Amino acid sequence: MMDTIDVLLSEEVIDARIRELAAQIDADYAGESITLLCTLKGAVFFACELAKRITIPVFMDFIQTASYEGTQSTGTVSMKLDVPDEAIEGKHIIIIEDVIDTGRTLSVVKEMMLKRKPASLKVCSLLDKHECRVVPFDGDYIGFTIGNDFVVGYGLDVDQKYRNLPFVGIVK
Ligand code: IMP
Ligand code: MG
Repeated sequence: MMDTIDVLLSEEVIDARIRELAAQIDADYAGESITLLCTLKGAVFFACELAKRITIPVFMDFIQTASYEGTQSTGTVSMKLDVPDEAIEGKHIIIIEDVIDTGRTLSVVKEMMLKRKPASLKVCSLLDKHECRVVPFDGDYIGFTIGNDFVVGYGLDVDQKYRNLPFVGIVK
């Protein structure tokens, strides 16, 4: 049976917002180069679209976290794929995420990356489910703040499905 998916954020709306975020990053890091540290798999689509619209020099790196469901501890977030310390040390890093939900994943990842002494470290997320936080966490660049619905598309999945939808939608 096919799921019904209601469009929450259209491709056009997302594209316009990504252009704004890119312009803001260009202005904030003028004269510098940056590394977009993309979290696999969900943030890949967003990271690529964002990178294409940034005009200062951009480097891309990729990490992947594994989180274990059903537990309340931040200690259960681990790295499935990591980068060497040299990829972070002395660099202007922007972690790219698809959605900040409970805040657990990014609070752990941010701490891990800060230990490697980046020149600066910020977080950019396409979506922010701000009301779902369990751990306090604020992103620096946010595409859209949304409610607590489970969303798919533009990289986000349910059981690995729907990542390739060109919009963000709510599964009914
Ligand atoms: P958290 O902030 O540690 O709770 O986790 C964020 C991660 O949970 C994201 O990177 C997604 O993989 C996943 N996630 C949270 N909400 C959604 C959603 O609505 N759709 C798809 N994945 C989600
Ligand atoms: Mg994810």
